[in-house]
Amino acid sequence: MPGLTLPLAPAPPSAALLSQAVTQFGAPLYLYDLALIESRFADLNHSLPQNFRLHYALKANSNLTLSHLLARRGAAAEVSSLGEFIAALKSGYPAEETVFTGPGKTNDELAEALNYHIGLIVVESANEARRLNQIAAERGKQQPILLRINPQFRTLNSCDSGCAIDAKTNRVVHADENFKAVSEAISETNSSHNGDTLKPIAMNGQGASKFGVDEAQAADELLQIQSLSHVRLQGIHVFTESNVLDYRQLIDAWQNTVAIAHRLRSQGFDINIIDFGGGIGVPYNSVDAAFDVPAFGAALQALFSHEPFHFILEMGRYLVCEAGMYLTEVLDIKESQGKRFAILNGGVHHLYRTPAMQNASKFLRVLGKESSDTMPTTIAGQLPTPIDVVVRDALLPVDLEIGDRLVIRNCGAYGFNHSLTNFALHPAPAEVAIWGDRLELIRARSRYEDFFQHQRLIQF
Ligand SMILES: Cc1ncc(COP(=O)(O)O)c(C=O)c1O
Repeated sequence: MPGLTLPLAPAPPSAALLSQAVTQFGAPLYLYDLALIESRFADLNHSLPQNFRLHYALKANSNLTLSHLLARRGAAAEVSSLGEFIAALKSGYPAEETVFTGPGKTNDELAEALNYHIGLIVVESANEARRLNQIAAERGKQQPILLRINPQFRTLNSCDSGCAIDAKTNRVVHADENFKAVSEAISETNSSHNGDTLKPIAMNGQGASKFGVDEAQAADELLQIQSLSHVRLQGIHVFTESNVLDYRQLIDAWQNTVAIAHRLRSQGFDINIIDFGGGIGVPYNSVDAAFDVPAFGAALQALFSHEPFHFILEMGRYLVCEAGMYLTEVLDIKESQGKRFAILNGGVHHLYRTPAMQNASKFLRVLGKESSDTMPTTIAGQLPTPIDVVVRDALLPVDLEIGDRLVIRNCGAYGFNHSLTNFALHPAPAEVAIWGDRLELIRARSRYEDFFQHQRLIQF
């Protein structure tokens, strides 16, 4: 909102506190600065208009302490599996305010969600709505639902939307080419859009998605859904993209979503809730600009506060990413073809990142060597696979030594929860919360026995 002043972000934890954490809990480990999570939640939540509700997407990090903190501060939950739903309930979120998203929900998951009176289920197709309808009928319920829709227009850098196809020339047009020309070329579709940061998706299969239903099919699917008596259509869910740093991209995409909702409303569908999903990004290196929350809030206020809808946001990364650190030790240092490698007591079984992120994650520090001269070093893990690279060509101290403690920042989202936990049977790291100057263990390091707990050994 205009004139909004944000609470100051808490000071980052000191090197002394981080060293104390390793001494106390060993390495590798994850550390989470709870004050920063509180601060991110407060700044975003305060910037939202009255008709918005902020949900925490547990897929980003389902650690109970982090999730509970956000529940206590007023977030609702978004879950994408029964496992996450159980985590949300254990964290203190009311089931009635929880949104269940995601493709391929099983009958058991849907039944449990209904048993606990979950608030909203986002169905991915009329088929899924029919399955849910049957399960709700058996319980004598009428379950509120949203339908997930894939819009015709998506953000320019959307990673899963593929390239646009020029309808006149049938030529593939990439995101950095003239967007307006492409839009005009495809204007025979009945979609409309509002901003310059959207592009029409390819209609030849490249823009296909496993999520939701295509915008062009939405009305047909909704007709089928509205004929079901044990689900009650409340609105639509349209996920834009993850890790968006320019707030205008989200705003453009969301205006397009609101236009879709109005069109569907005018066709007689009950659209009262719009779920925009997640998407606010965080900087992963020093050249990324931080997401402008006050400007974003002002735009939401100006554009959406008078709309006749309730809006849901499901944020993950923005709320928890910057609060998380992965702290590990250097086990080996070597050179290959003139390139320096640091091998960690850790790796992608603890912190898996997509190839794009391997080049981006450059918020690093080596404890006690913060002012040393640096040189490019590839940080690799201890797994017997070349994919185990955590950061490529990171700038690490020239005087790096075996035993040094490396801290990789911005790992609080999609770190622990996205990792290749069972690869090579190294225990999962401990998780520790930083609360002021206190350190609290919030998940113990896993034990070797844990790998074998549910196995049955057949004797020969
Ligand atoms: C349905 C849904 N909601 C919310 C999120 C959270 O997105 P983010 O972490 O970008 O805020 C995701 C992430 O993939 C998602 O798939």
